[in-house]
Amino acid sequence: MHQVLKPDVFAVGARDWDRRLFDELIPLPDGTSYNAYLIRGTEKTALIDTVDPTKSAQLIANLQALGVETIDYIVTQHAEQDHSGSVGEILRLYPNAKIVTNQKCKNLLCDHLLLRDDQFLTIVDGETLALGNKTLQFIFTPWVHWPETMCTYLQEEGILFSCDFFGSHLAQSELYVADQAKVYESAKRYYAEIMMPFRTNIQTNLAKVQAVHPAIIAPSHGPVYPEPQFILEAYAEWTADKVKNEVLIPYVSMHGSTELMVNYLVDALVRLGITVKPFNLPRTDIGELAMALVDAATVVIGTPTVILGPHPYAVYGTYLTNLLRPKTRFATVIGSYGWGGKTIESIQNLLTNLKAEILPPVMVKGQPRPADYRALDELAALIQSKHQSLNLK
Ligand code: FEO
Repeated sequence: MHQVLKPDVFAVGARDWDRRLFDELIPLPDGTSYNAYLIRGTEKTALIDTVDPTKSAQLIANLQALGVETIDYIVTQHAEQDHSGSVGEILRLYPNAKIVTNQKCKNLLCDHLLLRDDQFLTIVDGETLALGNKTLQFIFTPWVHWPETMCTYLQEEGILFSCDFFGSHLAQSELYVADQAKVYESAKRYYAEIMMPFRTNIQTNLAKVQAVHPAIIAPSHGPVYPEPQFILEAYAEWTADKVKNEVLIPYVSMHGSTELMVNYLVDALVRLGITVKPFNLPRTDIGELAMALVDAATVVIGTPTVILGPHPYAVYGTYLTNLLRPKTRFATVIGSYGWGGKTIESIQNLLTNLKAEILPPVMVKGQPRPADYRALDELAALIQSKHQSLNLK
């Protein structure tokens, strides 16, 4: 079904209630949606984005139910297939439509969808496209989260179509935000998993889209924001340089020694007034871990030694942390070993993207003894003093 945003502006995309994994990596506890929007001007009709190829039939049914006989422009804001993957199907139904996009996106679409050069109308940053009584303005927002990403602003209605920017993996029947707290969590999870590695680019792009003062933000995942200030402020907070008085401990334990250390460190840090978030890597939802990485001042990786190096789950958790480029300021390793190994070096070598000070690690031979617990107390006190040096409370 379609839903009406404004007169002659319709949401025509698809919900994916059951999808539980994106990119074969990202958990989707609440499903997702692939939002597409149809804008009917007095002279031209534009479709903003399409849907994941698994949902092409839904998009086509929605267009047919609206009686759409002609599409002049398929505005493609992002080449990733969950938005562009149905362009081919739409072109088969509406063969005279032109794909409107930027040069970088055109190049990517030609590679990913095997499209032809003559099927495109290429636009530049700030350019406008008249639909008669409605005007589209293109605002390039590169690296949220691919190099070609852009937004489209419908000037007469003040609607910013933002594609992945401000999106959330959240399937709900309502068009607009129904539960702000719920959407905050979903949008933060989305930011953490997709956007966080490009935090500084996003700061720049945030200022760029704020400059048009959108009345509505309509992303291509999740609900539409009728009060955009809510999500603009959330993005300003997440992308800011400020960290929180929090310690994250992604860990794995095989026979309990590392777990004893983690539990002891958690208690020691809590006694010092620090918020602690342990994540048992074999069981954790990595989306929760990613969300916690948005704010935490410190990350402590907990791992036993397997053969001569870190446990593979610890490697995975560390690699993911490094990949997401959080604004973490301090990092270290705790864990155990049986007879030797290069666990500390291996973990530290995986944290090259972090601009973090590495604190002294605590590695224990076998089970922790009183001196080892004292070392953990010293680590907790050091973390507290480091946080205090940043005026974190
Ligand atoms: Fe929702 Fe980057 O695609």
